[in-house]
Amino acid sequence: MAAGRQRAQRTSIYAVTSGKGGVGKTNIVLNLALALTDAGRKVLIVDADLGLGNLDVLLGIRHTYTMEDILGQRCSLEEALVEGPKGVKLLAAASGVEELTRLDTGQKMRVFSLFHKLCDQADTILIDTASGISSNVIFFSSLADRILLMATPEPTSITDAYATMKVLSLMPGEQDFRLMINQVESERQGREVYRTLRRAAEHFLKIRPAWFGFVSRDRNLQRAVFSQTPILEFQPDSRASADIRSLAATLMASDTAGEGRDSGPKRSHPAAARQEIG
Ligand SMILES: Nc1ncnc2c1ncn2[C@@H]1O[C@H](COP(=O)(O)OP(=O)(O)O)[C@@H](O)[C@H]1O
Ligand SMILES: [Mg+2]
Repeated sequence: MAAGRQRAQRTSIYAVTSGKGGVGKTNIVLNLALALTDAGRKVLIVDADLGLGNLDVLLGIRHTYTMEDILGQRCSLEEALVEGPKGVKLLAAASGVEELTRLDTGQKMRVFSLFHKLCDQADTILIDTASGISSNVIFFSSLADRILLMATPEPTSITDAYATMKVLSLMPGEQDFRLMINQVESERQGREVYRTLRRAAEHFLKIRPAWFGFVSRDRNLQRAVFSQTPILEFQPDSRASADIRSLAATLMASDTAGEGRDSGPKRSHPAAARQEIG
């Protein structure tokens, strides 16, 4: 972004997005935040699923105010920020409120300046976006330095991830996409899904998304959701927890290395996404 990049002390902003819902974004964002905190980062999670926020539910924590309240000037930023496990900060979103499911231009400008202030609160901001290719998802992704695009091995998730990458690649400026494959049986399966998406992106979108990593399908994660405890705390020795710690290490390595962006000219149109990946 912008909001992060202009600051003297740089805050890295990551948007986690997917296309298809239910692939595991919210769980991975939450646990990635904890793993990064364990590694010494100051992390803030922004629930950007406005109107259908559920990060607070996964944490089993209560909050009084949400991003919607800040934008409606019903509270200050300080009042809305809540502290989760290990001191991770959370800016929650409202649930069951339709009002901001499509931010207008004035609201987007307010969110933009809100992110400037959020950069004072952390060195790493993780944005948990809504599913689908709504204007809010496009907007929140545009605020990020890097877009972590999540897919699972399911064909519908792969096509939706590609369609999302296609739409986001048409945003002004260059996008830095990293692919993260969740619910895999093996690393090999994850890398195959990545290669499928990368080939389509290279061929049709002229961009080369990078490999970010994978998380194994692990029943412990479902159990953790039921207990409203992040899997990193619920079952730290599980496979999924180990995979998420690896993702955190990858994120920190790429952050410090200051990797360049890898992208080319954009020429394709969103309408034909299905034929291209299929
Ligand atoms: N690695 C995984 N292994 C097993 N189940 C998973 C995994 N990741 C996600 N899930 C399942 O998917 C559900 C949806 O996850 P969630 O993080 O809410 O997805 P999203 O935010 O993308 O909609 C979880 O409640 C859990 O049951
Ligand atoms: Mg979610």
